[in-house]
Amino acid sequence: MVFLLGYEVFRAVSILAVAYSDLSVGLMLAVFSYLWVMVTPIQDIINFQYVLATAKSACKRIEAIYAMEQEPLVHEKYNPFVGKASVAIKIQNLSFAYQKDKAILRNVSLTIEAGKKVAIVGASGSGKTTLSHLLVGFYPLDSGEILYDDIVHTDLNLSTIRENIHLILQHPKLFNDTMLFNLTLGKDYSEAKVQEALHIAQLDEVIQGLDLGFDTMLGKDGIKLSGGQRQRVAIARMILSDPKVVIFDESTSALDVHTEVRLFDALADFLADKTVITIAHRLSTIQSASFIYVLDAGKVVDSGSPSELLSKDASYFASMI
Ligand SMILES: Nc1ncnc2c1ncn2[C@@H]1O[C@H](COP(=O)(O)OP(=O)(O)OP(=O)(O)O)[C@@H](O)[C@H]1O
Ligand SMILES: [Mg+2]
Repeated sequence: MVFLLGYEVFRAVSILAVAYSDLSVGLMLAVFSYLWVMVTPIQDIINFQYVLATAKSACKRIEAIYAMEQEPLVHEKYNPFVGKASVAIKIQNLSFAYQKDKAILRNVSLTIEAGKKVAIVGASGSGKTTLSHLLVGFYPLDSGEILYDDIVHTDLNLSTIRENIHLILQHPKLFNDTMLFNLTLGKDYSEAKVQEALHIAQLDEVIQGLDLGFDTMLGKDGIKLSGGQRQRVAIARMILSDPKVVIFDESTSALDVHTEVRLFDALADFLADKTVITIAHRLSTIQSASFIYVLDAGKVVDSGSPSELLSKDASYFASMI
């Protein structure tokens, strides 16, 4: 305002100077045009203040991230994931609470042999997702331990665990970026590999339906895709990262039964040698598991093969899922 008012006052004075003194009209116009040339850099200097203020607040946020406590780094003596198709997972007396005195998991113990397909079932809120988060080290345990091929979790870096154990979240996170970025997360994969992953994840038709194919922007949280398509993107991501252990946390809950069957048929070869943990409510999703653990209120209350559990207590088991 002050700047523009000043400019107008200057013009008024110049006009008066032309009227009452010997300033010529030509000179006045020349001064106006030179003044206009000067305005732009002055406005740039004024705008710089805003840029500086934004940069300062951005720096503050970055500083806050750097000031955060870092995840512990340990000296790994032995990496159980190297040179093997998969690993066994053993959970011993694991207890965990998000808030003190409100235990979510109580004394959970279970064993999953390498390469086996295991399912975890239980009512909503029984702690299944929490258990899967603990397996990939999202939270520190309150007590107990997790052994990956007899190596205790505290002897491994969290990055090692996360590189080799892929958790497909109940609600996959997608970025406001292209389809390709959302699949590869910025890593380099050959086109053949990406196509293969898409094919297994039943996404070929979805890609063909997008306006710009791989270059389509998916919008915030992948808003342009349906829930089931987002879940399949998360599965394609897992196929590309080729982990040793895969945890499906309700990862196909939004798919219709036919697509789900096709997906798991296509995945069968890929998962053949890997340890797989499936968390699901739908009986169809877990029927192929070789062993099932039943979780209730944070405790393992039952376990056995699908046929054993169904014959033992069919009504109870059916009501759980
Ligand atoms: N981040 C969190 N902070 C505090 N409490 C949480 C948090 N996440 C989950 N909980 C609580 O932990 C309990 C178990 O939640 P969890 O997500 O593990 O259940 P779930 O068995 O996966 O259920 P669902 O079948 O509905 O997915 C719930 O009572 C929930 O309120
Ligand atoms: Mg859950």
